[in-house]
Amino acid sequence: MLQLLHRWIWRDPERCARKLLTFAETEADGGRDLVRAAELTEDPTLRRLFTIHAAEEEKHAQLFRTRGAALLQSLPDRSSARLQLNWVSPGERGLDDLRVHAESDAGLLAFLHLSEKSAAGHFATYVDALKDDPLTSNVFKEVLKDETFHMNYTLAQLTRVAPQRHGLFLWKARASRLWKAYLRVASAIAGVMGTVILTLQYFILLPPFALLAKRAARREPQGWVSVPPESERKLESQY
Ligand SMILES: [Fe+2]
Ligand SMILES: [Fe+2]
Repeated sequence: MLQLLHRWIWRDPERCARKLLTFAETEADGGRDLVRAAELTEDPTLRRLFTIHAAEEEKHAQLFRTRGAALLQSLPDRSSARLQLNWVSPGERGLDDLRVHAESDAGLLAFLHLSEKSAAGHFATYVDALKDDPLTSNVFKEVLKDETFHMNYTLAQLTRVAPQRHGLFLWKARASRLWKAYLRVASAIAGVMGTVILTLQYFILLPPFALLAKRAARREPQGWVSVPPESERKLESQY
């Protein structure tokens, strides 16, 4: 069922192009955060790995951007409004809310491991869903190889830097991802509720005010109105 849904989501070339461009932004943003992580860590092995990781995320951004732009250019006519459905088929989610400064090396590695694992799972699904578009499918295939490496090295390094407590760090990272997923759902629901309430307010509360304004306008004298001479005007009056 899910595979069919993904196939349907990726079948539309314009949606596909826009999703790729959004994914490119997330990858580039993640790459920048990893450069910062490389600057902050005091562990030389992690510094080297984070730098390689950052370069690979930048490469992914470039791959997604190039393919997305090529797809957009090949379309006969474009409309800017098309649902991307990123909540069903997200990109490398997790890299977008990486908080490098707030995390220890072990915390960051645990968070990265879970994000990369989830991204690898999603990208493997997209390789299958895009069988009819081999060029885009190959982009995901290439990115998937790196994501698998990211997923594995982060776990290996987590076990090295926190041999006794790596399980605890993974659980904490899982709880944080769950909390963020809850916040994403809650803010989406709040968005829908806000739209419904504002629409109801518009149709229920606004009409009486519009009627009152119309009635008041009818009572207003038409055309020019004579104003009493200056000497007869009250000081507290505007006219
Ligand atoms: Fe990536
Ligand atoms: Fe990655």
